[in-house]
Amino acid sequence: MNLEKYGPWALIIGGSEGVGASFARKLAASGFKLVLVARKLPPLQELSAELRGGGAEVRFASVDLSRADALERVRAVTDDIDIGLLVYVAGANNTRGRFVELDPAVYRSVIAVTVSGQAEFAHHYGASMCRHGRGGIILSGSLSSYMGSPSLAAYTGAKAFSRVFTEALWAECAPLGVDVLHLNIGFTATPAMARLGYDLAAATPPEAVAQEGLDHLADGPVWIAGGEPNWERARQRSVVDGRAQAIRAHATPSRESVAAAVRG
Ligand SMILES: NC(=O)c1ccc[n+]([C@@H]2O[C@H](COP(=O)([O-])OP(=O)(O)OC[C@H]3O[C@@H](n4cnc5c(N)ncnc54)[C@H](OP(=O)(O)O)[C@@H]3O)[C@@H](O)[C@H]2O)c1
Repeated sequence: MNLEKYGPWALIIGGSEGVGASFARKLAASGFKLVLVARKLPPLQELSAELRGGGAEVRFASVDLSRADALERVRAVTDDIDIGLLVYVAGANNTRGRFVELDPAVYRSVIAVTVSGQAEFAHHYGASMCRHGRGGIILSGSLSSYMGSPSLAAYTGAKAFSRVFTEALWAECAPLGVDVLHLNIGFTATPAMARLGYDLAAATPPEAVAQEGLDHLADGPVWIAGGEPNWERARQRSVVDGRAQAIRAHATPSRESVAAAVRG
């Protein structure tokens, strides 16, 4: 990873576990200094200690991205350093249900973390990178961005925002020397998915997803991780004709039915 172009500091939003932790380990091994952001303190403390043990300089901040002051709180630990790489990974969904029946707190959080959060952080840190004429931004997304999924209306809509937003940002920032990538993620073996009760045997390891993101940072606007099967899923969900039928068939199983299937 090019430390001169993207260093010296990388800011990883969602950098305490799963794909974000894999980014942190790989970037630390390449000589980056790191700022890690997530909510739970113990995983942040543990990963920071591990990386410092390997010689990396690490800062961390416990911040809930669904709060309106999230950027301000992260800026409190980054305003005195040069962030050359922003990796925004947080954004999984843990509540499924009919949109009109959901507690508004659920969809507000999804929209705040993925839509407002990615826009606010890309605006602030992207502006500084563009002024310096160098840097990189990776905004994570999902294969679900290619089609609305019943029971995940806000999530799939937010991921579609992320993908289309990143495409435009990529085109705007490229002439200013800043690489922007939407890292489109498929089924991945993260702690968040384990907590939802999924069988992760067939899931992609988070290390592989992070490696693809780093390897293809300059290959924007969109990189679909996981190879041809996931590229094919994206193609199938991008249909123009017969979309009504395809969307009905795209219903995501409820958390309860997944857990029941795992229990057998
Ligand atoms: N795993 C999959 O199969 C899969 C599939 C498609 C797309 N994706 C996408 O890949 C990304 C990573 O997913 P993931 O499965 O690793 O789960 P995740 O819940 O997004 O967790 C990733 C990291 O984000 C942090 N985080 C989550 N919500 C946060 C919040 N409100 N404020 C601050 N930090 C927060 C987590 O720590 P804390 O919990 O301590 O805050 C963790 O460090 C997401 O954008 C997701 O949509 C994942």
